[in-house]
Amino acid sequence: MDARDPLASFRQRFFIPKTKSGTDSVYFCGHSLGLQPKSAQAYIEQELRDWAELGVEGHFHARNPWLPYHRLLTDRTATLVGAKSGEVVVMNSLTVNLHLMMISFYRPTASRHKILIESGAFPSDQYAVKSQIRFHGFDPASSVIEIEPREGESCIRDEDLELLIERDGASIALIMIGGVNYATGQVFDMPRIAEAGRRKGCVVGFDLAHAAGNIPLHLHEWGPDFAVWCSYKYLNGGPGCVGGCFVHERHSKEWDLPRFAGWWGHDEGVRFQMESDFKPMAGAEGWQLSNPPIIAMAPLRASMEIFAEAGIERLREKSISLTGYLEFLLRGEKLDRFSIVTPSERHRRGAQLSIRIPGHGRALCKNLTAEGVFGDWREPDTFRVAPVPLYNTYQDAYRFVQSFCAALR
Ligand SMILES: Cc1ncc(COP(=O)(O)O)c(C=O)c1O
Repeated sequence: MDARDPLASFRQRFFIPKTKSGTDSVYFCGHSLGLQPKSAQAYIEQELRDWAELGVEGHFHARNPWLPYHRLLTDRTATLVGAKSGEVVVMNSLTVNLHLMMISFYRPTASRHKILIESGAFPSDQYAVKSQIRFHGFDPASSVIEIEPREGESCIRDEDLELLIERDGASIALIMIGGVNYATGQVFDMPRIAEAGRRKGCVVGFDLAHAAGNIPLHLHEWGPDFAVWCSYKYLNGGPGCVGGCFVHERHSKEWDLPRFAGWWGHDEGVRFQMESDFKPMAGAEGWQLSNPPIIAMAPLRASMEIFAEAGIERLREKSISLTGYLEFLLRGEKLDRFSIVTPSERHRRGAQLSIRIPGHGRALCKNLTAEGVFGDWREPDTFRVAPVPLYNTYQDAYRFVQSFCAALR
């Protein structure tokens, strides 16, 4: 399978961490921190050089002038998430963007103040949601609805989510769902959620931290109001890299939307006239606050170039096969000490498999990491692994299962 893989050569474009004996690790942690593209250094060095040689003039005369630097990422990002260019902007970090979006789009009233989230949503999202509810004078105890899996199941059924929206939609101000749940790896039926929300007049937002660069997205067509994501996981932008934000075109010129403003969201034609009245730019760019962190954005350009070459559809095709192979090998071991909680249906998962290991899973994860077999542990009992189609191989999957099962035994 590796010999026949049309994307196999992309692995050479990344640094693969080594084991103690100097061989390539099995790196199944791209759902947490993607690997470094070898070209990232040159992108950073270019900006350091321009800064050294030009100082402040780099804003206008750097090889890639810094003033509009964030736009170098716009088109590729839009393609990757299925959006129009004006609908996306690369800025801030995920939780900051989530707050900025909620300030504009969570507008609770006495009769419609609830936020629907999935149970087991990422803690930062839960904190953000609850703090927004309190900020508006409501109580999370009565304003958060958490949808749970059915008794005895690990993942939430899309039909249950739709039914809940249908039943309680009139009281829901915002549906805020992780497109791919961080703990289970479940992919939600985003077009169905967006459609159900629209029917009931709810605002719909997605956290795509585990979806961007993992599965194909069609945000414009699906029609959520907004989406946010980070770039350090499947997008390989480096630790703490700048996040991304989508605002649907239908909001691009809603000048009256309340928003927390900063000068980088101000009409750029007059930005440097230093006027005191804020005039937002059209589209997602109108939510920017600050001038962009050039050196943090540079490595993301390296990665997005690689994504553009590989193409998300081809990556998805390999991903389905690679994750399927990993699952096939794991199930073939017939060990009863673990279970896979990620759905088996291909449309309900991306690259990640979440393996539930009651008992000593944490120690097992630590020992495997010391051997150069990388997954990560999420309390209370989940070992997450992600064979990433851009740089992982079928042989990685084979080696992983050998090491994992030996450790379990
Ligand atoms: C689903 C999800 N939401 C939010 C975050 C928080 O991201 P940030 O630290 O960039 O705000 C993460 C980080 O891993 C995440 O996985």
